[in-house]
Amino acid sequence: MTPKPKKMKTKAPGKAWSGRFTQGPDPRAEAYSSSLAVDIRLLPYDIIGSQAHVEMLGRQKILRRTEARKIQQGLQKILQEWEKGSIKITSQDEDVHMLVERRLYEIIGSVAGKMHTARSRNDQVLTDVKLYLQDECEEIIQGLRTIQKVFLKLAEKHMGWVMPGYTHMQVAQPVLVSHWLLAHLEALVRDETRFTRLLFGSLDELPLGSAALAGTTHPIDRQQVAKYLGFSRVTANSMDTVGDRDFCLEFLNAAAICAIHTSRLAEEIVWFSSSEYQFITLNQGFSTGSSIMPQKRNPDIAELIRGRSGKIVGNLVTLLTVLKGLPMTYNRDLQEDKEPIFNTSDILIQTFIVLAPMLESMRLNQEAMQSACQHGFPTATEAADHLVAQGVPFREAHAVVGRAVTYAAQEGLQLEQLSLAKWRNFHPQFQAGILQVVRLQNSIERKKSLGGTASSRVKAALKKVRNRLFTAKKAKKGK
Ligand code: ARG
Repeated sequence: MTPKPKKMKTKAPGKAWSGRFTQGPDPRAEAYSSSLAVDIRLLPYDIIGSQAHVEMLGRQKILRRTEARKIQQGLQKILQEWEKGSIKITSQDEDVHMLVERRLYEIIGSVAGKMHTARSRNDQVLTDVKLYLQDECEEIIQGLRTIQKVFLKLAEKHMGWVMPGYTHMQVAQPVLVSHWLLAHLEALVRDETRFTRLLFGSLDELPLGSAALAGTTHPIDRQQVAKYLGFSRVTANSMDTVGDRDFCLEFLNAAAICAIHTSRLAEEIVWFSSSEYQFITLNQGFSTGSSIMPQKRNPDIAELIRGRSGKIVGNLVTLLTVLKGLPMTYNRDLQEDKEPIFNTSDILIQTFIVLAPMLESMRLNQEAMQSACQHGFPTATEAADHLVAQGVPFREAHAVVGRAVTYAAQEGLQLEQLSLAKWRNFHPQFQAGILQVVRLQNSIERKKSLGGTASSRVKAALKKVRNRLFTAKKAKKGK
């Protein structure tokens, strides 16, 4: 009589890869290689990815229907535990994928071992990260649109107000305050476009089914999984796929450019809220006091936005550097992609959360902005253009007005205060119109070129932005 086979133990096995080994890992090596503390946040995406995979395995008859169902139920239970916050982590859980598999063993027994048929952690982790980034991009796009709406509201509210535009931080030409506000908005529109392209570009291609690097012998259906998970396409080459982190770089790049925008905006807020400028008064809730100087109200939040952008730029450089020497397909170095990604999206989203109300609640000071235009001769270009209209070559006109400005500066006058006779001393071609031309309002209203600061152009721009923000469909990648 043949002896009865021993009943299979349903206890979770040790390392998934332990078969090839006769001894366990050194605890120091185990601690060093574990990514669980970082990638635990991928757990819900890992479950969804596994559910799609198992559903397909069942349909393709690679697993029995009953087996697939049992695994699905187990996965559902783990998701509930995650939502309740009751999942226990052990030091043997190398990463989030192994944690889920270990827990599945504990819940449904050895059939759990069938879940990993026809896949590898190499294509699994990519799927998790892409699903995660899809959600992050959607949240970032919403954040960008919220801030654009704040800028639009501010620009509409302050229509007609005047301020100096600066180059080299020196007064250059007068502009409408709304034109300046819309300038910041435009940069965020480009950011929105970048994140939207990412969402419908590389983040929309399913990596699962590439397996370790060469594909699989099992009759899988990748299109089916793509459809289940809401991806439009599947990636083309299994070797390329498992080593590809371009989509991470694209995300970090889009985020870094966006952080540069928030940083430059923050810099202007710091600058314009200084006691020397007083263009902006920050709401008290978004300013901070000094521990020693009782009079202070500092723009710390704006400074932190500027400072944290440095971390986001650093995260892009980190991943570029991790990737630069890697041979084709999966190398464990790739595990290091997650920290920069998570850190970047956390900072960006938190920045939006604080930036929107800070902008919305700040007060702009018309008086200070207008009177800053009384310094630095911001309408000098107009005076030169006036001579050009009389046929004087621009270079000559430039020199003439330069001399007029020097004179006015010596006399403590503004260009508007020079008489026609005085102008004519500098050049006989000055006409009576020069007295109007050098006025602030005139200077602005004559800048009618497309994209210029004339109020007709700015009003049209406001209308266009309002239309886009309030009537255009929002980008959504359905899952
Ligand atoms: N934790 C790993 C990572 O994030 C998962 C992939 C592990 N693959 C492997 N062949 N060891 O990259």
